[in-house]
Amino acid sequence: MRLSRYFLPVLKENPAEAQIVSHRYMLRAGMIKQQAAGIYSWLPMGFKVLRRIEQIVHEEQQRAGHIPLLMPTLQPADLWRESGRYDDYGQEMLRIRDRHERDMLYGPTNEEMITDIFRSHVNSYKDLPLTLYHIQWKFRDEVRPRFGVMRGREFLMKDGYNFDLTREDALHAYNRHMVSYLRTYERMGLTAIPMRADSGPIGGDDTHEFLVLASTGESEVFYDSAVTELKLGDRAVDYDNREEVAAICAEFTTPYARTDETHDAAVFDAIPEGRRKVGRGIEVGQIFFFGTKYSEPMGATVVTADGSRVPVQMGSHGIGVSRLVGALIEANHDDKGIIWPEGVTPFSVGIVNLKQGDGSTDSACESIYAALKAKGLDPLYDDRDERAGAKFATADLIGLPWRITVGPRGIAANKVELTSRRTGESEEMSPEAAIDRMAKIYAEHP
Ligand SMILES: Nc1ncnc2c1ncn2[C@@H]1O[C@H](COP(=O)(O)OP(=O)(O)OP(=O)(O)O)[C@@H](O)[C@H]1O
Ligand SMILES: [Mg+2]
Repeated sequence: MRLSRYFLPVLKENPAEAQIVSHRYMLRAGMIKQQAAGIYSWLPMGFKVLRRIEQIVHEEQQRAGHIPLLMPTLQPADLWRESGRYDDYGQEMLRIRDRHERDMLYGPTNEEMITDIFRSHVNSYKDLPLTLYHIQWKFRDEVRPRFGVMRGREFLMKDGYNFDLTREDALHAYNRHMVSYLRTYERMGLTAIPMRADSGPIGGDDTHEFLVLASTGESEVFYDSAVTELKLGDRAVDYDNREEVAAICAEFTTPYARTDETHDAAVFDAIPEGRRKVGRGIEVGQIFFFGTKYSEPMGATVVTADGSRVPVQMGSHGIGVSRLVGALIEANHDDKGIIWPEGVTPFSVGIVNLKQGDGSTDSACESIYAALKAKGLDPLYDDRDERAGAKFATADLIGLPWRITVGPRGIAANKVELTSRRTGESEEMSPEAAIDRMAKIYAEHP
């Protein structure tokens, strides 16, 4: 992409309404525009990051054997009357009436609808296990939408639902989700810690939230610092192997890590003092096991091997896809702007032309741009007729992890500068070497 032809409406001033850094940078970098309280348009660069996060979520869900589908945003109220949640959900639910006076709602979550799909089409234990998921917009009429996309009213969520014959099978599904989530966040360059949590309006008896540590997080968290050292890394996981999956869950949930809702001071105080940490966290996902809470009232049953009929064991599992954009910025920024991890960056590398209109500099930029694209990378070429200082400021604000700076003096010696946004360190090298370096780095972030 050439910046002169892109739509990147950066703001010079700090928007007064933004209280936290991610909101401020998303507005300043032209990623979003607020349309109403807690409702946003995703401008091209914000949309690109959102799509990259979605893509990682899809890949990791499917790697775990979960099957994508798409349910609508609008739902009939009758389904929610069956589970009893139409009245329970309260003011957070946006209720709508259509022209035929039918009660509808904008889905805040999809347990009822997926249970309806299941009961309509699945009848036998032989069709289990089954896990279906989608990535779809949700609406919750939050009392206090704030912090930009972190607490929106309309937001994008991945929500998945497992259907199993036995409690043990459903607990394996729960563990499988935990491991797939750990992998998902790690690929994005994030550390998200699974913490024992309260179940809230979804209900159920087993639940973990995934929290990204950040001072601006809304949850208070208590943890053993040992938990922050754990990494899945590139170990291969066989998601069908119950013992293996359960062992990974045990590894990540044995060190103490809880939110204020489930915090137990006595247990916490037993941790060696140096490792005892109190902080704040952003909830980027949650998994629930709730057994037959929905299948029983809604009649989602299967016939077992001995011919009897039982309600299916279920759980639901959510990832805050749009919130993750904000959480990623909270975890990756400095006072000049965003610092995208390679796994989610909107463009792989920025090319800054220090002297637009200079024949040799322009043509060097053009050939670097073409060569990067030929390697399958997605460069953003700043070809605007602007001062170098302004180009650097934009590059720092939008936070591409790498920058190739091209100027007339360097090019005369066949040299460009390759700069890491994270460390600020620059290296001089030939254009070919810079291109090869980029290809090598991004080979690890497909
Ligand atoms: N208002 C919102 N704006 C953006 N993302 C949200 C919002 N509410 C929930 N999410 C995301 O969706 C995920 C799954 O939804 P869940 O039902 O667990 O939310 P929740 O526990 O009600 O969230 P919160 O406690 O933050 O209100 C959450 O972990 C979070 O990342
Ligand atoms: Mg939650």
